[in-house]
Amino acid sequence: MLEILAVSGYRSLRDLTLPLARLNVVTGANGSGKSSLYRALRLLADTARGRLVSSLAREGGIQSTLWAGPEQIGRAVRAGSHPVQGLVRKRSVHLRLGFGAADLSYAVDLGFPPPGLSTSAFLLDPAIKRECVWSGPLFRPSALLVDRHGPGLRAVDDSGAWRVIPTPIADFESMMTEFSDPRAAPEMISVRRKLQSWRFYDCLRTDVEAPCRRPQVGTHTPILADDGADIAAALQTILEIGDEAGLARAVDDAFPGAAIEIETRDGWFELSMRQHGLLRPLKAAELSDGTLRYLMLVAALLTPRPPELLALDEPEASLHPDLIPALARLIAAAAQRSQIVVVTHCRELADLLVSEPDSRAIELTKDFGETRLAGEAFRPRWEWPKR
Ligand SMILES: Nc1ncnc2c1ncn2[C@@H]1O[C@H](COP(=O)(O)OP(=O)(O)O)[C@@H](O)[C@H]1O
Ligand SMILES: [Mg+2]
Repeated sequence: MLEILAVSGYRSLRDLTLPLARLNVVTGANGSGKSSLYRALRLLADTARGRLVSSLAREGGIQSTLWAGPEQIGRAVRAGSHPVQGLVRKRSVHLRLGFGAADLSYAVDLGFPPPGLSTSAFLLDPAIKRECVWSGPLFRPSALLVDRHGPGLRAVDDSGAWRVIPTPIADFESMMTEFSDPRAAPEMISVRRKLQSWRFYDCLRTDVEAPCRRPQVGTHTPILADDGADIAAALQTILEIGDEAGLARAVDDAFPGAAIEIETRDGWFELSMRQHGLLRPLKAAELSDGTLRYLMLVAALLTPRPPELLALDEPEASLHPDLIPALARLIAAAAQRSQIVVVTHCRELADLLVSEPDSRAIELTKDFGETRLAGEAFRPRWEWPKR
């Protein structure tokens, strides 16, 4: 479980260190940095999938994702007697992401390739300067286990001595995907496996053209797709190898008397729902946006393969307010199996979730363009590995 999330230099997250609990509820006004926090988590997961650089490129390149404010927000700027524009960066730019956990922790530090030295056409590609895996939540050189410095990689072996791993790594690639000998760096493989299990749901589709509304070829689906397209197969998988009773309860909790049915024909699956007062079940194409979305969240949260971490961005979108308590119960139950991060605008959902045991309210505010934790919340100790 992550105990600390640390982000520096990414969009409005100039320097944010958050303590995390089992169930984390992120709230804040528009523009306070909630989506940036969510995306920072996804970028961490992307390192283990070999997609860090391409994900940054999709966001407009590292220049547009780097903190656009000054390195330090001085007293004169705060008082308004000195304009921010015109301040010049003196230090090299960093985009740093990391997490601390009781067992193994990780951090990555990205920057630009040195200007003038690059003979490559890929001028907007960031370079990975340093990546480290260490034991315990707080970085100390003595706790290091795997250490990538530029192209060089080394790991601590069984006897506690450093061993250089003679595979140079390209500066746009993470050690996570470039090096995979489990004997030489078992801790890195362990961190990578956890990161690869992280799951994100922020683009569930329920519009009239959404693929989930049409029959789909059904295969065992323990993990619902990002857009929810394979909802029928995912629900059928829960019925066959997962928490069948939990699924029936979650549906009945939101729609008393209702039950889902998966119709199968020649290997094609289609979701339908039997509802109280209707003569025939309604097919996915006929269900309301909110009903379909709730069923997708049920499929995502009751997954028979719970991830280490599951992040949801505004799960309440298009749900009827009556469904919020049922959604909160579903999320709280999922927190028994996975660590959860929920970004929400819904006060009721946030209040219900933070009343759960081992939960934490993370309220973000913006101060001179910089995202901060509201109130004088506890800021955990955190050290970045140096370049
Ligand atoms: N490179 C950047 N440097 C500084 N601030 C940025 C950068 N990119 C975007 N922002 C600002 O970050 C803020 C947070 O955005 P976002 O995370 O989408 O907020 P929320 O999801 O809370 O509405 C926005 O106000 C945006 O203008
Ligand atoms: Mg947002």
